[in-house]
Amino acid sequence: MKILIVGANGQVGSAANQVLSENKHNEIFALTHKDLDISNRNDVFNLLTTIAPDVVLNAAAMTNVDLCESQVDEAFSINAFGVRNLAQCCEHLDAHLIHLSTDFVFDGKITRKYSEYDKTNPLSVYALSKLGGDQEALAYSKSTVLRVAWVFGNEKGDFFSWVLDGLNSGSLDSLIDNQISTPTYNFDIAEVLSRCITSRLFGLINVANEGETTRLEMGQILAEKLGIKESLKGITSESLARPAQRPNYSSLSTGLLTELTGIQMRSWQDALDDHIKRIAK
Ligand SMILES: NC(=O)c1ccc[n+]([C@@H]2O[C@H](COP(=O)([O-])OP(=O)(O)OC[C@H]3O[C@@H](n4cnc5c(N)ncnc54)[C@H](OP(=O)(O)O)[C@@H]3O)[C@@H](O)[C@H]2O)c1
Repeated sequence: MKILIVGANGQVGSAANQVLSENKHNEIFALTHKDLDISNRNDVFNLLTTIAPDVVLNAAAMTNVDLCESQVDEAFSINAFGVRNLAQCCEHLDAHLIHLSTDFVFDGKITRKYSEYDKTNPLSVYALSKLGGDQEALAYSKSTVLRVAWVFGNEKGDFFSWVLDGLNSGSLDSLIDNQISTPTYNFDIAEVLSRCITSRLFGLINVANEGETTRLEMGQILAEKLGIKESLKGITSESLARPAQRPNYSSLSTGLLTELTGIQMRSWQDALDDHIKRIAK
C-alpha cells in the first residue's frame, strides 16, 4: 500500500511514519513542510498525482494556537483550505484520506466526555480553522477524521519535554490546573490510524488515552515517575492571559472507537511510561 504522510516531521506524523514503516507491505512517502505546503493547491495536486498514493495522512497543521489569533489568514489557509486541497485531490485519486481534528473544537461547557456527536463551538481561531478542516475532510466519503486531544510523545517538542526542561533548569514552578482533557500518546494514535487504514474505517472517530487530567497533574506525575522533587503549584489559565482561549473541559470519549475496532485505549499514565522508556533509549 502506498501511504503518503504530509507534516511528517510533527508529533503525529513522525510516530505514524515509524509505525506504518514497520509493515513491509507499506511504501511510505514522508513529506515535511519543506517538501510540500498543503496550502499550495497546485503543488498538492502535482505531487500527489505523481505519487498516486492509496492513502494520504494529513498530519500537517498550524498548531501554534496563540499565533493563529494574530495570523488568521495563515491559520485558515493551512488548517482548513489545505485540507480542502488534500480532500479534493484524494477524491480525484480515489485515495483514503486520514485527517486529525482537535478537542479544541468544543467550548468545554459540559461535564462528561465529548462524543463524536456533541455540538462544536470553537473558542479560538485555531479551533475554528481546524473545524473548517474537519468539514472539508468529512465532505469526502473516503475520509477518516481522528479527533485527538493534548498530544504528547515528541521527545523534543511536547508538553512533557517542556516541563522536564523547566524542572531541570528551575524555571518552572506552576502549571494550569483549571483545564481538563484526555492526554493522547502519538504512538497510540499511530496504531489507531494504522488500523483505520487496514480496516478502511471512514468518518469521525475520537482517539484519546483513558483517564482525564490537568496540566498540573501531568507535570506532577511526570516528576514523580522520574524521581524529581518538585514543588509545582496550580494556576488558572486566565492568569496567563494568553491570546487564544482554550476550553476548560475537552475530554474525549472513545466508546465509538472501541465499538468499531475493539481497541481499548490504555491509560495516559501507562502510555507515559512507554514514552519515558522510549526517550531513555
Ligand atoms: N499537539 C496537540 O496537542 C494536538 C491536540 C489535538 C489535535 N492536534 C492535531 O493533530 C495534528 C498533528 O499535530 P502535531 O501535534 O503532530 O503537530 P506538530 O508537531 O506541530 O506538527 C505539525 C506539522 O505540520 C507541518 N506544517 C505546518 N504547516 C504546514 C503546511 N502548510 N504544509 C505542510 N506541513 C505543514 C509542521 O512543519 P513545520 O514545523 O516545519 O512548519 C509540522 O511538522 C494536527 O492536525 C493538530 O491540529 C494536535
